[in-house]
Amino acid sequence: MKKIGVLTSGGDAPGMNAAIRAVVRNGVYRGCEIIGIKRGYEGLLNGQYTEMNLSSVADIIHRGGTILGTARSEEFKTNGGRNKALEFIKKVGLEGLIVIGGDGSFKGAQELCKLGVPTVGVPGTIDNDLNYTDYTIGFDTAMNTVLDAISKIRDTSTSHERTNIIEVMGRDCGDIALYSGLAGGAESIILPEISLDIEKICEKILNGIKRGKRHSIIMLAEGAGSAIDLAKSIQDITGIETRTTILGYIQRGGSPTAFDRILASKMGAKAVDILLDGEENKVVGVNGNDIIAKDIDMALKTEKRFDKSAYDLADILSR
Ligand code: F6P
Repeated sequence: MKKIGVLTSGGDAPGMNAAIRAVVRNGVYRGCEIIGIKRGYEGLLNGQYTEMNLSSVADIIHRGGTILGTARSEEFKTNGGRNKALEFIKKVGLEGLIVIGGDGSFKGAQELCKLGVPTVGVPGTIDNDLNYTDYTIGFDTAMNTVLDAISKIRDTSTSHERTNIIEVMGRDCGDIALYSGLAGGAESIILPEISLDIEKICEKILNGIKRGKRHSIIMLAEGAGSAIDLAKSIQDITGIETRTTILGYIQRGGSPTAFDRILASKMGAKAVDILLDGEENKVVGVNGNDIIAKDIDMALKTEKRFDKSAYDLADILSR
């Protein structure tokens, strides 16, 4: 295999650039030509690409976002769109493709596999919602961004003796809220994986006040409801002034942490190795300290495991 394409797709995640760099540098090291596809699957079906070399990925390991650009392509979900992409792949002579993205992007990769294009997925999403891997690229950075926000909100929350609800991203997965809540000492964590018990949350706020707590932080995963509605209910029940912060897109930006850079470097390089070893239709992941490869169909079928012990621990430690 001599010519490999690489694209980033779906929501961007800090560390995607480090993954692109690893694909290009390891690919060149192993004697391949690397083609960067711009704007995810949109670029694949519209023929937007750039030839990459060692210098094209200089000075990007520390940068958030993705130098290739990204998109959520509706056209690629159609047969017509995928056939256009296939025509482009043949025209340019791509013998393999590396897709850096989340589960939606992997579904696209799966379709390309069915059309006979050797494809390898690299998990790049802040959501950490893929079960076959312990971590996705970008999750650690997003969590640290949220943690920084929790510390700042904690300051003002204490001064004003308020309850503060912090809504974070994650789509249908509560990992960002769960682990940043555990790390940030949040009093309650509301997740899509656990049904909401508002009475219990309010009781905990009031018990905290009784024993001298001056404020409460409540983490809310976006998939579990609306921060505004929740704040109103909590304020009505407890009588404590309750404010909300929706962190939004700051969670998707910023310089990747060391953890994400290392993960992205290892995973990007591994994706090239997999293609060059003649394997295909795989996704790269991490299990403990090992970088692993799984069959893409199996990986997409596996249900995300919920870490109930982390949830219970966060509750016990914040009493
Ligand atoms: O998948 C990453 C993510 O940031 C989710 O947490 C969020 O629900 C979604 O993307 C937002 O997507 P968009 O920027 O396309 O609206």
